[in-house]
Amino acid sequence: MSEGKIKVSIDGILVEVEPGTTIMNAARQIGGDVVPPAMCYYSSLEGSGGKCRTCLVKVSKGSEKDPRPMPKLVASCRTGVMDGMEVQNITSPEVLEARKGIVEFLLINHPLDCPVCDQAGECDLQNLSYKHGIEETRYNFDRRTFEKIDIGDKIKLHMTRCILCYRCVMVADQLTDKRVHGVLGRGDVSEISTYISNAVDNDFSGNMIDVCPVGALTDRTFRFKNRVWFTKPVEAHRDCPTCSGKVTLWYKGEEVLRVTGRKDEFGELEEFICNDCRFDKKATSDWVIDGPRSVKNTSVISSNHYELPAPPPVIKENLKLQTENKKQLERAEKLK
Ligand code: SF4
Ligand code: FES
Repeated sequence: MSEGKIKVSIDGILVEVEPGTTIMNAARQIGGDVVPPAMCYYSSLEGSGGKCRTCLVKVSKGSEKDPRPMPKLVASCRTGVMDGMEVQNITSPEVLEARKGIVEFLLINHPLDCPVCDQAGECDLQNLSYKHGIEETRYNFDRRTFEKIDIGDKIKLHMTRCILCYRCVMVADQLTDKRVHGVLGRGDVSEISTYISNAVDNDFSGNMIDVCPVGALTDRTFRFKNRVWFTKPVEAHRDCPTCSGKVTLWYKGEEVLRVTGRKDEFGELEEFICNDCRFDKKATSDWVIDGPRSVKNTSVISSNHYELPAPPPVIKENLKLQTENKKQLERAEKLK
């Protein structure tokens, strides 16, 4: 074992991590299917996580010193690893069953408006429900509904779609100098508020749109302009005095329809970008083009430009999954 590191096994795959690492981040070091889904955790936002419960896992062995299993499923984004810990994610039927329940719970008040929602095609909740959801709801009560609100001139809040993950509140708290955005109320009356619709007009407020896992916060400069899977993502940069200036441009033909930050394999922004880059630089001449943006094949955005990642370790060790993965690669090859 490397010095100072501790060993943990997730779905039978061993990884060595620094003490203090969470189960979620240990799984991210392995990558692939063993990484639990996250709807509220966001590695660059301090204190995020612990709200949505989609990342629940089973700890079947607590540690080398105390091998007793943990009595309940735990939130992997908030639970630290111990030396010798054994964790189950996709190999535990109990976890998969619980995740179905969480998806059903998240969808209780969420409207089925993917056909008219700008987030469709890049919505974490849409992807999560395809993977773990059940076909129908068992909920018969009235759902919460809200009027749409403009948060400043660039962001639209559609509270009916919000899953109260608090990510946007953390952006407001941690990235902008004047917090005018928060959650009011508790329980089923909680709502995101800007305290009497104050405009959020500081330099980094647009990042709320990118961190929102659903279509609750959308870019008013892009709303209803196009379906995201018809656009072409291209990486570009500019010399920006406020942020790194590294962005993704979303083209339709010759026109830049929107500008976003660049997202990594876990759907998180590699770097936060400023509002000037996001909202006011929509001409190709504003940018130096770096090349096409890689798109993972887990979302409809990737239609027509599939990119299959290397098989994760869990596939490498499983003959049935290997065969399935080979078939997928062959199908993708034909589509090229
Ligand atoms: S508006 Fe979006 S980012 Fe903010 S709490 Fe709701 S779901 Fe999360
Ligand atoms: S990602 Fe862990 S509780 Fe939401």
